[in-house]
Amino acid sequence: MAIPEKFRNRLRLPAIAAPMFLTSGPDLVVETCRAGLIGTFPSLNQRTSKGYGEWLEQIEERLDTLPDAAPYGVNLIVHKSNPRVEADLKVTVDHKVPLVITSLGAVRDVVDAVHSYGGLVFHDVINRRHAEKAAEAGVDGIIAVCAGAGGHAGTMSPFALIPEIASFFSGTIVLSGAISTGRQIAAARMMGADFAYLGTRFIATRESMAADAYKEMIIASSAADVVYTPAISGVNANFLRPSIAAAGLDPDNLPDHGKMDMSNESRAWKNVWSAGQGVGSISAVPPVAELCKDLISEYRKAMEEAAEDPFQDLSARSMRLMA
Ligand SMILES: Cc1cc2nc3c(=O)[nH]c(=O)nc-3n(C[C@H](O)[C@H](O)[C@H](O)COP(=O)(O)O)c2cc1C
Repeated sequence: MAIPEKFRNRLRLPAIAAPMFLTSGPDLVVETCRAGLIGTFPSLNQRTSKGYGEWLEQIEERLDTLPDAAPYGVNLIVHKSNPRVEADLKVTVDHKVPLVITSLGAVRDVVDAVHSYGGLVFHDVINRRHAEKAAEAGVDGIIAVCAGAGGHAGTMSPFALIPEIASFFSGTIVLSGAISTGRQIAAARMMGADFAYLGTRFIATRESMAADAYKEMIIASSAADVVYTPAISGVNANFLRPSIAAAGLDPDNLPDHGKMDMSNESRAWKNVWSAGQGVGSISAVPPVAELCKDLISEYRKAMEEAAEDPFQDLSARSMRLMA
């Protein structure tokens, strides 16, 4: 396990702002990288491959003016129902995107194409079998999407999945699922992850493209408001209960969706809002710069306190989370 050498000196926190459909765009990416964390977005957040290339140009131009910025990444959905995989991969290679995050399919050809220009590939998984397949495909990192994550979440405890992946994979390990604070990023590191992967926490920022009502619903919600269901997208994912009801559906009696089809995804995710169980730790919609500053200082403090006194009194910290 390791943070890749080429990224290490450019980071202020071992954390990645995870790619989110309809939510992450150039402003979120640039502000995250400016703060010293890896910023990412899904290529499908632009309607065409040409538009995707235009976003990359914009991001690169803005990051070129920030020599201390962290590297950025994109997410490619490698699924047979996504007709843009090949075209988006070509645009990605043309732009030499530093980090490519693949979801749903780990494919050797994609890995080879990204490695051809020196880029890295991280692949997200929800279980050991998919992690083994990703390792065979030659990926540089594996993202363990554990229970309680926003989007297409898994069901495994990170305490179980991280060591199993580490037992056969020597690349970078990233932990995803319900991580909202710097202290939790420290916990992810303690657990054996190189990076923490934060999605939901970044929806509730000024720069995210989510609607204001979505951000407000995140602040008002706790873990009990998050429903894990295949009914919205065809694959199990976490959604906010009030948004399911607002879309005219009964959260306790959802209809069968059938197989996942990328051509219908946009409608589904626009009407029903996804979030992870970490919503209960989110109480404000700050600018990304402020959020990242807080995450960095909370992380450092947690690490220092743990090193100084392994039996430290944590009651004050619990009160702060509840405030
Ligand atoms: C609204 C939303 C959209 C998402 N869209 C994508 C996506 O397009 N591609 C992807 O790989 N992961 C997607 N995810 C999953 C995130 O990348 C990440 O794994 C997850 O948000 C981490 O869990 P957390 O939300 O509890 O922090 C999405 C998550 C959310 C909440």
